Amino acid sequence: MSVVDTLREIRAQAEQELSQLENTSALETLRVHILGKKGELTALLKGMGKLSAEERPVVGAQINEAREWITDRINQRLATLQAAEREAALKSEAIDVTEPRELPRVGSAHPITLVMDELIECFTGLGFEVLEGPEVELDHYNFELMNLPKNHPARDAQDTFYMDDNIVLRTHTSPMQARAMLTMKPPIRIICPGRVYRADEVDATHSPVFHQMEGLVIDENVSMSDLRGTLEAFVRKLYGDDIKLRFRPSFFPFTEPSAEVDLTCSACSGKGCRICKETGWVEVLGSGMVNPKVLEMCGIDSTKYSGFAFGIGLERIAMKRYGITDMRLLYEGDARLLSQLR
Ligand code: PHE
Repeated sequence: MSVVDTLREIRAQAEQELSQLENTSALETLRVHILGKKGELTALLKGMGKLSAEERPVVGAQINEAREWITDRINQRLATLQAAEREAALKSEAIDVTEPRELPRVGSAHPITLVMDELIECFTGLGFEVLEGPEVELDHYNFELMNLPKNHPARDAQDTFYMDDNIVLRTHTSPMQARAMLTMKPPIRIICPGRVYRADEVDATHSPVFHQMEGLVIDENVSMSDLRGTLEAFVRKLYGDDIKLRFRPSFFPFTEPSAEVDLTCSACSGKGCRICKETGWVEVLGSGMVNPKVLEMCGIDSTKYSGFAFGIGLERIAMKRYGITDMRLLYEGDARLLSQLR
């Protein structure tokens, strides 16, 4: 076959393959096959040595012309294929920013935690310091230093989990009063939030585990009106000005005089309902002036210092705040309750 025929065949073959191949890597294979070191055209060039001196320039020119033509065609095809490949990549890698997606589930703080944080903020704003103490407590702090000696009948009011004769699950946060007085010097202004335990049956308003926040102020000339002012301030901050407070005389062995504080029932706005047992009031805390006997037992000079204390029931506050009418809802861990408080 003459060189001219071979060239014509290579061009025809190239033409056909160029129109059929679909990607740049197939194109590269074709290029190597024709123009590469071992390619068809290169082979023709190498064979020129066998030609006569007259033929050589003529054939050389024809081969070069064919090579230029093929190179041109390959480059054109390359440009088209590259553009198509870029477009396809852009399409497949594109992110649709308008596509709706599932949002990550965000948790929320428990209502008890929410009110605890709120009260802490309120009381620290009034100059109180936050103290925490043990939930497994010595009888000595939980009862004896609170003026509830062994066999004192008032102990019966707090159905206690005894670990042994001297160790109990604290029935209130009041032992922190003793711990503070024994370790701090007046003036003392502390609050102690935490879990407390009583051997109670579970119902809509009782739980064997619940939460309190103790408050204690010891200084010179502290009076009942300081107690009242402090509690008013916290209730106003939490519930606003519409709510009423009622101080009801009460008895605690560690305070004298003692008062229980009721707030207007928010479920019925004071009209009387199931939640407030038809009274219009909900009890939220116990309080009073620290019994001088307790001051003395805890190493505070009762002729120089006086003080007040209070113990707030956090469940009551949370239920009031969020309109929860059954205390059990606070412990069931149902995410549907929590998601409403976000
Ligand atoms: N510790 C009492 C209770 O749990 C509440 C209280 C605290 C009362 C401080 C007076 C002073 O019922």
